[in-house]
Amino acid sequence: METKKINLGSQGLVVPAIGLGCMGMTGFQDGHMYGSADEGEAIATIHRSLELGGNFLDTADLYGPFKNEQLIAKAIQGNRDKYIIASKFGWEIDDNDNVTWAINGKKEYVKKSVERSLKNLNTDHIDLYYMHRLDKNTPIEETVEAMSDLVKEGKIGYIGLSEVSSETVSRANAVHPITAVQSEYSLFERTVEERGILATLKELGIGFVAYSPLGRGFLSGQIRSIDDLPEDDFRRAIPRFQEAHFYKNIELVKAIENMAEEKNISSSQLALAWIISKGIFPIPGTKRRKYLEQNMAAVDVNLSNAELTKLDSIVPLGTDTGKPYDEFSMGLID
Ligand SMILES: NC(=O)c1ccc[n+]([C@@H]2O[C@H](COP(=O)([O-])OP(=O)(O)OC[C@H]3O[C@@H](n4cnc5c(N)ncnc54)[C@H](OP(=O)(O)O)[C@@H]3O)[C@@H](O)[C@H]2O)c1
Repeated sequence: METKKINLGSQGLVVPAIGLGCMGMTGFQDGHMYGSADEGEAIATIHRSLELGGNFLDTADLYGPFKNEQLIAKAIQGNRDKYIIASKFGWEIDDNDNVTWAINGKKEYVKKSVERSLKNLNTDHIDLYYMHRLDKNTPIEETVEAMSDLVKEGKIGYIGLSEVSSETVSRANAVHPITAVQSEYSLFERTVEERGILATLKELGIGFVAYSPLGRGFLSGQIRSIDDLPEDDFRRAIPRFQEAHFYKNIELVKAIENMAEEKNISSSQLALAWIISKGIFPIPGTKRRKYLEQNMAAVDVNLSNAELTKLDSIVPLGTDTGKPYDEFSMGLID
């Protein structure tokens, strides 16, 4: 099956209008990201994404660490070239597979990381390779020069950056054309718009990838109480999901759900169609075929100007839905 395709950035990368976020398909260290995952269903979801034309997979060395890339390798075996794979490096992982929580953008670490990811993904190239977070102690020029070498060596296709400021992406783009910036973006998280980063990307011809486009599941309407989240769920540490904001946010979700119901679609589809209507590429995360199929169908949802205005009035730009990360992780955003 074919789905709508879009250009991501201006270097020639063509992607489906909706990608697949794979992070939740494996746990993190001894805990879970978004509840427990079933490997068989996760692999079936990756296969179904290809059947539906949504052959773009988003992963990172950090997820697991490494287990997520290894799962993808298993799923795409024999079909590597039919998928577009995006991975990321930067959170330092030592030789014992321990995450040190430092960010490392030094030249040697970039080279070491890509070899490790190529091995874990069981491939000879990564289509889109992102710096996961800015290393504030290493000039961005050094990191991007090292990534540029990887493009020349054919180890990666295109360069991306995640959660960077307008200044950083402009400096990076002067070293080597940046294809995409990936940051959190949804009806609940519009900081990149407020900080003028989307405008900078447009000016520079750089694509934007919206991660957590369903607000880490919040906008799906499936989470009704904090107790719906398992004890070891990553979201419990996020202010947006904590007492002070949770119940206010649920009221917004209910209004979004009512609007979706009137259109005979799910609130997830409405949240994704809103992003697509802005020419932005969302990568919703799921580990099950049922949600993947529903999310892919959002490509065909058309929103009128009146509907877009209504959504904007439910969650106006600047609405305080709580911070998207704890204090430590907020400090890593450029
Ligand atoms: N660059 C970065 O720093 C960064 C940070 C976070 C995420 N990411 C990437 O972005 C991807 C997407 O973000 P995300 O996974 O954090 O958040 P998300 O896409 O906003 O939400 C994922 C959650 O929504 C649920 N869900 C998905 N579709 C649904 C549907 N149709 N109905 C009901 N529930 C649905 C999933 O459930 P199930 O899991 O049960 O299927 C999961 O709990 C990740 O997988 C990862 O690859 C990148």
